[in-house]
Amino acid sequence: MDDLPEPLAGLVREHRLVEQIVHDAREAIDAATVRDASDEVVTHAMDILRDLDAFLAIDLTTHIAKEEEVLFPVMRKLIEENEAIVVDMLAQHDEVRAKEWDIQRMLAALDATHDEVHAESASLQAGLAVAGARPSLDVMVGFRDTVMKLDWILQGHFGDEEDALFEPAPGWFTAEQFAEFARQMDEVERSMS
Ligand SMILES: [Fe+2]
Ligand SMILES: [Fe+2]
Repeated sequence: MDDLPEPLAGLVREHRLVEQIVHDAREAIDAATVRDASDEVVTHAMDILRDLDAFLAIDLTTHIAKEEEVLFPVMRKLIEENEAIVVDMLAQHDEVRAKEWDIQRMLAALDATHDEVHAESASLQAGLAVAGARPSLDVMVGFRDTVMKLDWILQGHFGDEEDALFEPAPGWFTAEQFAEFARQMDEVERSMS
């Protein structure tokens, strides 16, 4: 994973950053969901949750857009192109089809997980909008559940993405293609900032 080309290495760095931010949010919310939590601890957790909300809305949304608008489409195209090659490779037909199916299924699963991440982010945002400055323990427990669920979804998602797509991808594309993907991702980033 250390020697991945850009922009894959950049996406992995973003995964580690998201993990760190969600981890910090979990620590803050855990401290704030005990029965005798002080006002200071709860206020701190609320600040962290608002920071998390802003990060999800901007940085994570941009990360997902770079994957859905640049990386996933070129991988789907690669699979379609390989479908044509398969016709001339009857001996390997079943094996090649099985691999294509795996990547295709993985891309569909990753797309669906992006939707789940957006749904959890929206739930956090909606909760924060009505929470007030000093929410009750029940409300804080609801936030804790949302952040835990988000953490859980993202852990599985990042692992699948890195193992099934990023790791084999250097064998699928040339250095010139990766440079073009990086350029397109910069464009996505600029259009969203
Ligand atoms: Fe993703
Ligand atoms: Fe990702």
